[in-house]
Amino acid sequence: MDVAQLLRQLDQTEADAAQAVADAKSVNDLEKVRSEYLSKRGPMQQVMKAMGKLGADDRPRVGQRANAVRDAVTAALQQRMAALKQSERGALLEKEAVDITLPGAERQTGSMHPVTQTIEEVTRIFTAMGFSVATGPDIEDDFHNFEALNIPADHPARDMHDTLYLKDSDRLLRTHTSPVQIRVMQSQPPPVAIICPGKVYRHDAVDQTHSPMFHQIEGLLVDRNVTFGHLKGVLEEFIHAFFGPDVPVRFRPSFFPFTEPSAEVDMRLKTRRVIDGKVVEVEDWMEILGCGMVDPKVFEAVGYDSEKWTGFAFGMGADRLTMIRHGINDIRHLFENDVRFLEQF
Ligand code: DAH
Repeated sequence: MDVAQLLRQLDQTEADAAQAVADAKSVNDLEKVRSEYLSKRGPMQQVMKAMGKLGADDRPRVGQRANAVRDAVTAALQQRMAALKQSERGALLEKEAVDITLPGAERQTGSMHPVTQTIEEVTRIFTAMGFSVATGPDIEDDFHNFEALNIPADHPARDMHDTLYLKDSDRLLRTHTSPVQIRVMQSQPPPVAIICPGKVYRHDAVDQTHSPMFHQIEGLLVDRNVTFGHLKGVLEEFIHAFFGPDVPVRFRPSFFPFTEPSAEVDMRLKTRRVIDGKVVEVEDWMEILGCGMVDPKVFEAVGYDSEKWTGFAFGMGADRLTMIRHGINDIRHLFENDVRFLEQF
């Protein structure tokens, strides 16, 4: 090849390289262009080889031109590389950008069921007074649910408890939490100071105030020289802690087979009622729990010496306490598990 041919080839290489650089669409494309034009097997290298055969006079002209082409291609590559890197980075940033104006993904936090809240708070109040928590089985037998509590088979008190029996067995769903008293006394000697929260079951049709399953909290205290005065003190303390220190409380004589004497405790409460189509606030006594001194027959059933030990017991409905506290007028709200209702507590 003569000088003129080599110079033409260099012109051609410069033009081709410039076009290839301009066409490169990515950093990757550009790397290919670089290795095509500037590598050992590229067109520049061929010119260099051919230059060796030129005469000494011609060599510098071609050599200078070759250097200029190499510099021009290198410079074009660098410039385009910088531009492509910039825009690729820009595209990546755009793709990964966080749109801080989008609404956040809301996280629902759960809350405790209002009846559970009641049970926990009642438990806190009684444990602070020295009671501990005991539990028993939901499926009971006749002895623990009735017999030992002085409710024999033909006793009219059984009518009050519409009992759900298990098929083909003498087992039943406990109708109250009082059988836990019996189990605890059978398992340990006095003194005893326990509360027993739990589910209870009755064969009741569902309505505004009835549910076949509801919750009770039983209490039992047995020691030497326990009196009705202690019972009153403990329950007044509880009611004032739960409903407020100024709530009037009264004890009204009543009957339970497992206590003697027995009482029901009422609390004076403001409630809203609809009278003649108008919502009016009325204040009235409201029954909130049953209680009494443990009947000696119950002590005999569990083998406690009723000459040596006396005690008191009480039982209350956790659902009822919850309804009174929050002004809930229908027990079904507590069991339908409508989140819109539950999340208010
Ligand atoms: N067991 C009773 C009921 O279900 C509630 C009760 C009343 C429990 C008086 C007691 C008590 O321990 O002394 O209706």
